[in-house]
Amino acid sequence: MSFKINNRRYTGSKTKLVPWIKEVIEENCLDCKSFCDIFAGTGVVTYGLIDNFDEFIINDFLYSNEVIYEGFFGKGNYDKEKINRISKRYNNIDLNTVEPDFVTKNYGGKYFSNEDALKIDYIRNDIEKKKNKINKKEYNILLASLIYSFDRCANTVGHYDAYIKSKTVRSSFTFELIEPILESTDTQVVKIYREDANELAKRIYADVVYIDPPYSSRQYSRFYHVIEIITKWDKPQLFGAALKPEAENVSEYSKSRALDFFQDLISSLDTKYIVVSYNNTYNSKSKSSKNKMTLEDIKETLSKKGETKMYFKNHKAFNAGKTEFNNHKELLFVTKVK
Ligand SMILES: C[S@@+](CC[C@H](N)C(=O)[O-])C[C@H]1O[C@@H](n2cnc3c(N)ncnc32)[C@H](O)[C@@H]1O
Repeated sequence: MSFKINNRRYTGSKTKLVPWIKEVIEENCLDCKSFCDIFAGTGVVTYGLIDNFDEFIINDFLYSNEVIYEGFFGKGNYDKEKINRISKRYNNIDLNTVEPDFVTKNYGGKYFSNEDALKIDYIRNDIEKKKNKINKKEYNILLASLIYSFDRCANTVGHYDAYIKSKTVRSSFTFELIEPILESTDTQVVKIYREDANELAKRIYADVVYIDPPYSSRQYSRFYHVIEIITKWDKPQLFGAALKPEAENVSEYSKSRALDFFQDLISSLDTKYIVVSYNNTYNSKSKSSKNKMTLEDIKETLSKKGETKMYFKNHKAFNAGKTEFNNHKELLFVTKVK
């Protein structure tokens, strides 16, 4: 088995909406060659459009997402046999020889079973040790594969805001490789960034810019801190019951000034078409799920830039169980820039 890019649990992932987003873009954005996914998350929207454009810009401010994009879309050559050999070895680790490191010491028996934590420690250290013997593409494939592999067996409801409290945490880790999307012979040009979207927007051009910001006060960097730490491998001090590091990459789009930042982003963009995803959860009973911008705010901001159409779709969103979304609708705004 190998992982496809959409085999990942991620809050706000558009996996199920990709066919609809693609249809709306194909209908509206004519004669376009380049596409920018500026809050790319899992990267599944770019994947869905990979045959529609010649050039792509993929951006997200999380370290783990950058590694995942490099693994799936990065254009370097890689030695398949070598990667397969390493993968086999990662499924035959003699745990008696493994020294517990950051994952076992902090997350063992919590986010992962002790046995799975030891495997993750071993593999993460081994990938780093190999850095001089493998190329950048191989490094990113291995690290992205580790992320997909441990995320599947984590003792959570899908994000790392908390682990599930139970006496025994089941062991289920196996190392599986990701299936890269682009090979070096493919003609698409892909540029991958890890930047604040508002900063990047000032420097880039793409015919179509797709905007899918966070909608609520839930911070992605706080939800996916375990993935970020294992990616960076900087072993920071952790705090509280959920074992989180000091906050970083805190998004303004999840705070009260979201609209100011959205207006700034839209006014900076140099593009022909702007496509924005949002939903109507601003009436949600759960405070943390409430939208930060209203649909009217978005429509008004976009209309200043050009003629704006709105598309609706009923949708059942990913949520961890508590939040009731009545009459939940997904929206797409399409602006033809003046
Ligand atoms: C709604 S999710 C995108 C989901 C994505 N379209 C998908 O289908 O997987 C929003 C993303 O924006 C990122 N993000 C939040 N604030 C950001 C900022 N200021 N600059 C860049 N990325 C940001 C988050 O890390 C998160 O991955």
